[in-house]
Amino acid sequence: MAVRIDGKVTSEEIKEEIASRVKEIKAEGGKIPHLAAILVGNDGASQTYVNAKVKACEKVGFQSTLVMLKDSISEDDLLDEIQKVNDNADIDGLIVQLPLPKHISVEKVTAKILPEKDVDGFTPANVGRMALNWPTYISATPYGILELLKRYQLETSGKHCVVIGRSHIVGSPMSILMARNDNPGNCTVTITHSRTKNLAEVARSADILIVALGRPEFVTADMVKPGAVVIDVGIHRIEDASKKSGYRLIGDVKFEEVEPIASAITPVPGGVGPMTIAALLYNTLLAAEKKIYS
Ligand code: GUN
Repeated sequence: MAVRIDGKVTSEEIKEEIASRVKEIKAEGGKIPHLAAILVGNDGASQTYVNAKVKACEKVGFQSTLVMLKDSISEDDLLDEIQKVNDNADIDGLIVQLPLPKHISVEKVTAKILPEKDVDGFTPANVGRMALNWPTYISATPYGILELLKRYQLETSGKHCVVIGRSHIVGSPMSILMARNDNPGNCTVTITHSRTKNLAEVARSADILIVALGRPEFVTADMVKPGAVVIDVGIHRIEDASKKSGYRLIGDVKFEEVEPIASAITPVPGGVGPMTIAALLYNTLLAAEKKIYS
């Protein structure tokens, strides 16, 4: 039976580490980390995520600013709002919650964020630095996965890592990070997507399988090599009348089937998900302490 990789416990540990650093900073009279989040529109899921991020800031002793903007805001006005945060010396980190309304260019918005404050690690400058293995802010989900592999001491060097999905937020950066000459890293990486032929066969050759394609229970036991490490990035709500809420959460991996054959696996919920906020806080701390751009 696989080791369950507990993202909830690990993320709490990281948040405690951050909170104790904030206490030290306060005692030294240093700069309290300050995160600004821009939320455009009233998408329910985005509101939930942003509120969770702001709440997490309070819990570790950070300052936070939430800028809520109407769905109808023009692209130029949004770019002006970003400029204001860029210019505000008190704010260390800025995130613009995605997705954005269709009339706004995500490329223009992302490129407007000052790389020094880009604690999501989404700007071209920071993606480039990540690919070059220069100091940078690593995006929340990839950072969370690296941290789980590290803290559970799961060997990656020389292993075959298969990534399913090529999104800019997870699959693409994950494939770069796992191939870097670093620890975790040093994998032989295969990135797969909707056009990949023989996906099941490729997946079955993975020592480390990272699944981020956004399809409920896509990965079944026949797609997993016995003893593989399985990282499930998916999260989906499905109706379940037996639950008080009326729904339950499942991932991109058929957990009950895969857990018995894997050596280690992240559950959903409680795996990768909770790690993402801890990663964002960590990047904001790096920004406040000027550890990336000095
Ligand atoms: N939407 C989904 N994931 C993310 C994230 O990590 N950061 C931002 N800003 N928006 C998201």
